[in-house]
Amino acid sequence: MGRLDSKVAVVTGGGNGIGRACCERFASEGAAIVVADVMEGPGRDVVAKVEAIGQRAVFHQLDATSPDDNEAAMQRALDELGGLDIVVTSAGISGKGYVSDGDTQAAVGRMAGNAEVAMDPIRSFTEFPLDDWQAVLDVNLTGTLLAIQSAARRMPNGGSIITLASIAGKQPEAGTPSYSVSKAGVWMLTKFAAKSLAGAGIRVNAIGPGFIETNMTAVVSAIPQLWERFLPHIPMARMGTTAEIANTALFLASDESSYTTGEIFHVDGGFYTE
Ligand SMILES: NC(=O)c1ccc[n+]([C@@H]2O[C@H](COP(=O)([O-])OP(=O)(O)OC[C@H]3O[C@@H](n4cnc5c(N)ncnc54)[C@H](O)[C@@H]3O)[C@@H](O)[C@H]2O)c1
Repeated sequence: MGRLDSKVAVVTGGGNGIGRACCERFASEGAAIVVADVMEGPGRDVVAKVEAIGQRAVFHQLDATSPDDNEAAMQRALDELGGLDIVVTSAGISGKGYVSDGDTQAAVGRMAGNAEVAMDPIRSFTEFPLDDWQAVLDVNLTGTLLAIQSAARRMPNGGSIITLASIAGKQPEAGTPSYSVSKAGVWMLTKFAAKSLAGAGIRVNAIGPGFIETNMTAVVSAIPQLWERFLPHIPMARMGTTAEIANTALFLASDESSYTTGEIFHVDGGFYTE
């Protein structure tokens, strides 16, 4: 018996990192998966991995900022996998132009180009580019809203929606203005949706990870001065793994959390003990 037997999940951003780990963990507990991502190659790899585990999966090319793409991804779960019980909204970017390709050198190069501004807190705020603000809010916040709306319209028997916030949503140290504000927004959106959808039997919870080893944080590991800035704030003195986030998502996806909604779980090695 799996903890998600006969359930169907849609995972946005399912091609890489945390989303990918959720796809694989959920499949290992019996769920069928729509892997929804803007990147086709990694998304199809995850479909193959889920099928190798013995579960059904389809890839859906999704731009998280598109209402139509979100509608289509959720509908695909119903049409091709026979239901929609769980959604994880893991599609996200750390800045304008971010691509989850693991090209750490390019990411370090982009940061190095802005090093002088980045080290100056006043300039890094007053000169923060509007196009970065807009791009990050579009994917991280509006994308999460669209996924929740599209999912909720298709969950007549209830379900569980899990959003990805961040420690950055409560602490301005750990991100850029656009990233931190987008994640603060995701947290409020999660509470708002939880309250609005409780009557429909839909639970909505957030995971607010600390530093987790993925393509997104490869740049932090690669720049010692950056990692050294964050390390003293992490009592467990290491990054987390995607499996550690997927295990929390599994609890929230399963009926084991049946009385939990509108909550945020900080899986962060103790970041908020301070
Ligand atoms: N890694 C961390 O330390 C950390 C910490 C806190 C929160 N988060 C959040 O967790 C989520 C997953 O991040 P990750 O670390 O796994 O990063 P990642 O780069 O490994 O994965 C992000 C995925 O989202 C996809 N994506 C990006 N833009 C998209 C779009 N417009 N439409 C559809 N898919 C899109 C990417 O292709 C990629 O597959 C993000 O929302 C991120 O902000 C990550």
